[in-house]
Amino acid sequence: MKKIGITGSTGSIGTNALKVIEKNSRDFLVVFLTANRQVEKLAAQARIFKPEVVVIADESREKDLRSLLKGEPVRILAGSHAIARVCRESDCDIILNAIVGSRGMEASVETVRSGKDLALSNKESLVMAGNLINELAQRHHARILPVDSEHSAIWQCLLGEKEKNVKDLILTGSGGPFRERDPHTFGSITIPEALKHPNWSMGAKITIDSATMMNKGLEIIEAYHLFHLPPDHIEVLIHPQSIIHSLVRFVDGSVKAQLGVPDMKIPIQFALSWPDRLPSDWESLDLAEIGTLTFEKPDDTRFPAISLALDALRTGGTAPAILNVANEQAVYRFLNEEIPFTGIIPLIEKALEHFPAETDETLEKLISLEKDVTEFVKSLSLKKGVLPQ
Ligand SMILES: NC(=O)c1ccc[n+]([C@@H]2O[C@H](COP(=O)([O-])OP(=O)(O)OC[C@H]3O[C@@H](n4cnc5c(N)ncnc54)[C@H](OP(=O)(O)O)[C@@H]3O)[C@@H](O)[C@H]2O)c1
Repeated sequence: MKKIGITGSTGSIGTNALKVIEKNSRDFLVVFLTANRQVEKLAAQARIFKPEVVVIADESREKDLRSLLKGEPVRILAGSHAIARVCRESDCDIILNAIVGSRGMEASVETVRSGKDLALSNKESLVMAGNLINELAQRHHARILPVDSEHSAIWQCLLGEKEKNVKDLILTGSGGPFRERDPHTFGSITIPEALKHPNWSMGAKITIDSATMMNKGLEIIEAYHLFHLPPDHIEVLIHPQSIIHSLVRFVDGSVKAQLGVPDMKIPIQFALSWPDRLPSDWESLDLAEIGTLTFEKPDDTRFPAISLALDALRTGGTAPAILNVANEQAVYRFLNEEIPFTGIIPLIEKALEHFPAETDETLEKLISLEKDVTEFVKSLSLKKGVLPQ
């Protein structure tokens, strides 16, 4: 039986992970669960899965959580530092990091630093601190098990293959809800329109990232750190049906793909069960029913986020971290109705111009950079609705 800790258990990935664990209760035991503010949901999960510890990041919710879990044999901790602490000190085989955004970085760092395997859903961790996390994982013999569907697909395609025979990684993306919308109307995109992903049901931040296609940009950087190929060998392919989750091209011209219905329970279960596979009764793929799979090249003028992310990756140092934090804050400003959809990319560009990329990628540096970039992006005002001042 594997002992599992889950950070961000109340979110979309966390909830799906608990469904996987519930179906495979002989294989997995939950050691801890964490959330930010949703105490009722966290308490309900704790009553079902009986973890040793629960952590609520927002300390103002601790009292409510304690009263909800009165009489339950569970230790209750509060504060972000307590999440880092359970990642470091708990007795787990695998920690699934399903926190959203750069706030998940410390959980990833502490997991690998303490030699535990990291099932990584929080892609922002690798975008922010990929070099540091890889170095710590190597030093402390921790493995990084991809959960993102594209990276899980590449991982599965690479099993049994030699590194020297891999030529290119091809990340697929649906193209999001605005793949065919007239770009001249992007300024009037509403929040509900941007939150309506054609194939996947996910948390708000990643859904907006999919609409701008920054999600694919972040995934290129994530793939770079997971699979160690140069940026020029990581491609993006638009595949509106989201059935092929990604592909690998080998030196002999052969291409392998991994397919499945768009359901995050499949890659989550694979990360937790690897090197084994567990049977499941999730919906299975029926290609005859789907009939047609289509592909397109990404449109750079419609979605500049991909080249922006590639440029940050090529610049290196802290540039991807700046891109990531600026994107996150710009997305939150859009969701708070402070900027239009077309304001997201200009805010990121402004932050990348303002903060020089540095080579110091220690955790302390990245935490302080996160604060500075956050404040900067929050302070930018928009003139004529789009251009930051
Ligand atoms: N959803 C998907 O299908 C999917 C697919 C691939 C990759 N991912 C990646 O997986 C991660 C999670 O995505 P999601 O869609 O599951 O997000 P989500 O539904 O918004 O859930 C986020 C989780 O993180 C917690 N959280 C938020 N802010 C926090 C903070 N400051 N400190 C500690 N915990 C915090 C939330 O707690 P509360 O509930 O209490 O707010 C919640 O448990 C993201 O990095 C995303 O890019 C998601």
